Amino acid sequence: MICVDRMSFAYQGQSPLFSDISLTLQTGEIVALIGPNGSGKSTLTLLLNGLLKPAAGRIFVDGMDTSDPACQSEIRCRVGILFQNPEHQIVADTVAEEIAFGLELLNMPRAEMQQRVTELLNEFDLHSLAHRHPEELSGGQKQRLAIAATLATGVSYLVLDEPTALLDRKGCDTLFRVINRLRHGKGILFITPFPEETSLAERLLYLDSRSLREIPQEERRSFCAALENDQ
Ligand SMILES: Nc1ncnc2c1ncn2[C@@H]1O[C@H](COP(=O)(O)OP(=O)(O)OP(=O)(O)O)[C@@H](O)[C@H]1O
Ligand SMILES: [Mg+2]
Repeated sequence: MICVDRMSFAYQGQSPLFSDISLTLQTGEIVALIGPNGSGKSTLTLLLNGLLKPAAGRIFVDGMDTSDPACQSEIRCRVGILFQNPEHQIVADTVAEEIAFGLELLNMPRAEMQQRVTELLNEFDLHSLAHRHPEELSGGQKQRLAIAATLATGVSYLVLDEPTALLDRKGCDTLFRVINRLRHGKGILFITPFPEETSLAERLLYLDSRSLREIPQEERRSFCAALENDQ
C-alpha cells in the first residue's frame, strides 16, 4: 500500500502547495485524481516515488518511508511513474529497446523478454515502428511508447500523469483495456483532467487549494457533471 499521511509540501521560496493531505493506494485498485492546472498533481507524483520529499508528514510505500535514503532504490522499483511529458523518460535508441529496457532491469530471460516486447508492441500499435528512433515518433506515438515501457516493468504501483493527453480514440481504448487487465496485480493512480475518464476508477480524489479530498461514491456523478460544465 502507498500511504500518504498528513503530508505538506512547498517548493523552495513558495507558499505551500499541499497542507496536511492524506491518501492511500492499495494494490488491486484504480484511483483517479482530478484537479485544476497548477494544483500540484504532477508534484504529487514526484513525492510518491521519493524524487521530492515532504516538508511535513510522511509517505510510506509498503511500509518504507520515502524520506529514508536507505529505501530510495526499492521505492523507485515499486512505484512506476508515467510522466506528463513522455519525452522526459524515453532513453533508448529504438522503440523496441525502450520497452526492453525495463524488462532487462528485471533480469527477465531473453526469450521471455522478446515475447513480452512483441506483445507490448502489438498491443500499443507500435510494431511497425519497432526499429525506429523514438525521436522520430509523433507525440501520441511517444506517449504510447512511454506507457508500454512503463507497463513493461514489474512495478507494484503505477502513477499515470495525464496519460491520454496526446492519444487518439484508439490509443485511449488500448490504454483503458490494458489498465483494466493490470488492475488485479497493481495499484494504479490515474491522473486526468477529464471527468469522464474517471469512471474507470473505483475511487475519485480531488486536489485543489492545497487540500485533497475523496469524493463519496454517491456524489461522483454530480461532481463530474459539475466539473464538465465548468470546463
Ligand atoms: N520545479 C518546480 N519549482 C518550483 N515550482 C514548481 C516546480 N514545478 C512546479 N512548480 C509549481 O507548482 C505548482 C504545481 O505544479 P504541478 O505541475 O504539480 O501542477 P499540476 O496540477 O500537475 O498542473 P497541470 O494540470 O498543468 O499538469 C505550479 O504553480 C507550478 O508552477
Ligand atoms: Mg501536471
